[in-house]
Amino acid sequence: MSGKLPVVAIDGPVGSGKTTVARLAAKKLGYVLVDTGAIYRSVALKARQADVDWNDADRLGELAANLDIRFEEGRDKQKVFLDGVEVTDAIREPEISQGASEVSAHAPVRDALLDTQRDLGLSGGVVMEGRDIGTVVFPEAQVKAFVGASIEIRVQRRFEELKSKGKQVSLEDTLREVRLRDQRDEQRALAPLKPAEDAVLIDTGPLSAEEVADRVVALVSDFIEKETQIKHENHKS
Ligand code: DC
Repeated sequence: MSGKLPVVAIDGPVGSGKTTVARLAAKKLGYVLVDTGAIYRSVALKARQADVDWNDADRLGELAANLDIRFEEGRDKQKVFLDGVEVTDAIREPEISQGASEVSAHAPVRDALLDTQRDLGLSGGVVMEGRDIGTVVFPEAQVKAFVGASIEIRVQRRFEELKSKGKQVSLEDTLREVRLRDQRDEQRALAPLKPAEDAVLIDTGPLSAEEVADRVVALVSDFIEKETQIKHENHKS
């Protein structure tokens, strides 16, 4: 790394708190936030709008390769625009969540989005959250965290999230949704959800989002300190 700010990868399953943590950490660090789940969700929504089946790998790949997606910082969340239209809430609908999990299993989609994601993180100073950031998108990321929590806690979080948006869902439906997405995300052949070997595992169950974000910030500070020390020693010798 030559004076470039690090790439911070935060991966984890549904309800692990990674979106909140990534947002807080990016704010504390003054880094750009990239929510890669929003990109997969946008492919699922775009497919729905264009009447493309979530199993049609080739056409989904084309949609993914030509995706017109833009992020904009909002007051309490990041806004997402697809083809110039705000889709921040539309992509979080339970149906689109399942669709995102389905479309993300297809190779043409993952291939097309790899470059999109790498371009977004290329200049460093970025917190990128998803499922395979530390393993596939940025295996060379300088800081990697894998966040997780028990299924009970994750289902409860997802349930609260949906309820706060006025969705009429039961805890049982939410459990089914989370289990199905866990299964699909962990068992797919391509880039399955798993921690990178060099990721720091953080159980978000007993911690507040602030505390988890502080741990991520501490990992970044440790990394920068070590880098500075190495440079200093190289300079001396
Ligand atoms: O993080 P999320 O729940 O918004 O992600 C939605 C879906 O997108 C998730 O079920 C799997 C997929 N995804 C992926 O395969 N790879 C990523 N880096 C991010 C998300």
